[in-house]
Amino acid sequence: MNPLNHVAIIMDGNGRWGLRYKKNRNDGHKEGLNTVEKIIKETLKNKIKYLTLYAFSTENWKRPKNEINFLFNLLENFLAEKIDELNKKNIKLKIIGIKNFSEKLNNLINKAEKKTSKNKKLQLNLALNYGSKFEILNSFKELKKNKKKITEKNFISYLQTKNIPDPDLLIRTGNTKRLSNFLLWQIAYSEIYFEKKLWPSFNRKDYIEIINNYKMIKRKFGNI
Ligand code: IPE
Ligand code: IPE
Ligand code: MG
Repeated sequence: MNPLNHVAIIMDGNGRWGLRYKKNRNDGHKEGLNTVEKIIKETLKNKIKYLTLYAFSTENWKRPKNEINFLFNLLENFLAEKIDELNKKNIKLKIIGIKNFSEKLNNLINKAEKKTSKNKKLQLNLALNYGSKFEILNSFKELKKNKKKITEKNFISYLQTKNIPDPDLLIRTGNTKRLSNFLLWQIAYSEIYFEKKLWPSFNRKDYIEIINNYKMIKRKFGNI
């Protein structure tokens, strides 16, 4: 059976869920947070060491202001309310992405990261204002700036995900088969699972089923 060390998830489908069941997209984002909590819980239970959640992409700034504000408010409240709970559960929080948010959110993030930095049970990476192309280009710029040789090891050392092993399993909910600028380098050998359900409808059972399927796959990494 394959070991499972790192799960990455593109949490897609909130907007459609909101429109379908509540008449507006933002209610879908709110509901999506419940799924986040459920999945964190199940990840802990399964002793998985890393969980990376795609929460906001560098391209999501194209969305209407009201939706962006709603999303960031949700996130601020989540961090303010839940950080103690995450800390108690021995979860380390890390933001991957470009940290140029409001002063309030930047402070919250820094505080949360600092507070949980020594935790060991699960590392929760929140991809926020994250874009893989930006990350890759930035790494090359750093190599040049620091006059480093272009090697895989040096390149990786400037990625936002340095010190984080590559995902074993990538899940995208929301019935869409694309990567939307997420971890393009890191998922070179990840097993990819496209889930039909929208993120707010995704549940513990669906997650466990995907994990169990993953465990039975023969991962070959180019070998036979
Ligand atoms: C994913 O859900 C969450 C974010 C991008 C913040 P969407 O908001 O993309 O939901 P759909 O894909 O429009 O249904
Ligand atoms: C990807 O979903 C980003 C997140 C889940 C945060 P999108 O809804 O932004 O992706 P596209 O636009 O459908 O490719
Ligand atoms: Mg979407």
